Amino acid sequence: MTPISNLTRRAAALATLALCAAGPVFAGGHANTHETLFPQDFKNTCGVDAATLQDWFGGVAPSQNGFVVPANSVTFDDSTNCNFYKWGAQMFLWLTSPTNQGPVIFNSPVFFDATYTGELDDEGFATFNLTRNANPDDLPTSLRSVKSEDPAIDEIGQADSYVLVTPKNDTAYFGVHVNDVYAAFAQMHLDAKSQPGYFDEAPLLATNFPTTQSELDFITTQSLPAGESFPDGDALTMELKTAWVAASDVEHPENYITITGMVPEIEKNADNTQWSLTGTPEPKELALVGMHVVGSAKGHPEMIWASFEHVSNAPDLPYYYQSTSAPAPTLFTPGTDGDWTLFTGDTVPATVVPTAQYKAADGSSTGGAINALGNDTIEFVPVARLNPWGFKPQSTSAADDATDLLSLNNTVMTALAAQDDVRAYYYQIGSIWTGGNIPTSATDNIKGGDRLANTTMETFHQFPDGNTIPGAGKNAFQAQNCFFCHSSSADNGLGTSHVFGDVANVSD
Ligand code: HEC
Repeated sequence: MTPISNLTRRAAALATLALCAAGPVFAGGHANTHETLFPQDFKNTCGVDAATLQDWFGGVAPSQNGFVVPANSVTFDDSTNCNFYKWGAQMFLWLTSPTNQGPVIFNSPVFFDATYTGELDDEGFATFNLTRNANPDDLPTSLRSVKSEDPAIDEIGQADSYVLVTPKNDTAYFGVHVNDVYAAFAQMHLDAKSQPGYFDEAPLLATNFPTTQSELDFITTQSLPAGESFPDGDALTMELKTAWVAASDVEHPENYITITGMVPEIEKNADNTQWSLTGTPEPKELALVGMHVVGSAKGHPEMIWASFEHVSNAPDLPYYYQSTSAPAPTLFTPGTDGDWTLFTGDTVPATVVPTAQYKAADGSSTGGAINALGNDTIEFVPVARLNPWGFKPQSTSAADDATDLLSLNNTVMTALAAQDDVRAYYYQIGSIWTGGNIPTSATDNIKGGDRLANTTMETFHQFPDGNTIPGAGKNAFQAQNCFFCHSSSADNGLGTSHVFGDVANVSD
């Protein structure tokens, strides 16, 4: 028996197991339902074994729509990068678990939606209400722009606020959601304003998100009736941003988490140069295309910033990974075949150039207009993931992290696909955190994917080497990961969240 045939057999066995084999996967013999294809001969550096998956599913084998318990952030072990990626993977499966109180946890009463109050604070920033989800059929979304150039701008209505346009000439919608612990903690900070010494018992909480059991206990006793506790308190404080497109804009809506959302109603003018927001929200069937999963954990008051996408969003530039057959990193060039939601064509573009900009009406998330840039019409732009897994493309030093993510995603997705679970169509594009410090910039002791960007939310905020984003004056790589905007002063961890300091009301 030659080593070659061993390897071939091994690769073949892996490929049959795998959800996204290195070749198109066809559902029911019709269309390609896995546009993002992963190499299959990766080293299993961060895969999840059956016993771990069973733990995630609360002690039972994975099942379709099975409930996943949240990762325990209080006992989080930060000794390997893999542990950070696994934290995100488990949290995503928890957040998207269906319950009898809602189609997914993040749209059930354990979560609160952050919506604009329509009012600005003293410094001119938009303020938010946190409202507990009562009804699973009205997820509020708004037309946040896909990221401003100015990190100081903390709300909608910023200049340069580019808009994602789908091939079907529609836009995307965004929601911000926080868990019950975060909402309770935000209420405590509102209360503390009039009560000096409020945080004397847990002084770090005055300026940081909780990372320990005793801090969680303090939040619990201050917020809940005696003897009660948060159902998932070990998740500590969590904040999410979700990205959605009309379910009619995706090729296979049955392969998406779908929800009825409230979106701003849009009126397009005849020559497609201006889309006006009427100011009235309307219900729309939405498909989940992206999600940021962010939360504090033991040793990490800066929070772990994990990000997820649907497998059919947009193609990746080539990246290196560790294969089972070669001692040195192997280059993988993902294809462009298939019905992508945010991409058309044959070539992965070198940059992503916006065609439209959103100007909100004062502090409102439903008013204002989207205008074409320059004298052009509002057009679809082919989108790509320019820094795969959150790293410089074709960098051999990113191969270990790429391999962690490949093995983790593959083992999780394969197990879910075997159960026909819709969560099998989503994968982690990467995560970012620090050495435990509050990051004062995008280069301050940053760990994980230092170029992390989600194609649905930071579409025009990807800065590969040597490419220019027109209008933004960027002609070389800039460290513009999540912490570019979500950094803070070293002694104020709460500033990493954009919403936290601007919460005006928390309502049950
Ligand atoms: C160019 C600036 C910018 C970048 C880069 C950026 N964000 Fe944000 N983010 C914002 C702003 C502004 C908000 C405020 C809420 C809104 O209107 O969407 C926000 C909101 C959020 C929220 C909702 C809770 C909060 O903090 O307010 C999450 C979660 C989030 N971002 C995650 C991420 C992740 C993960 C990344 C990196 C993959 C990232 N962001 C990159 C600007 C940015």
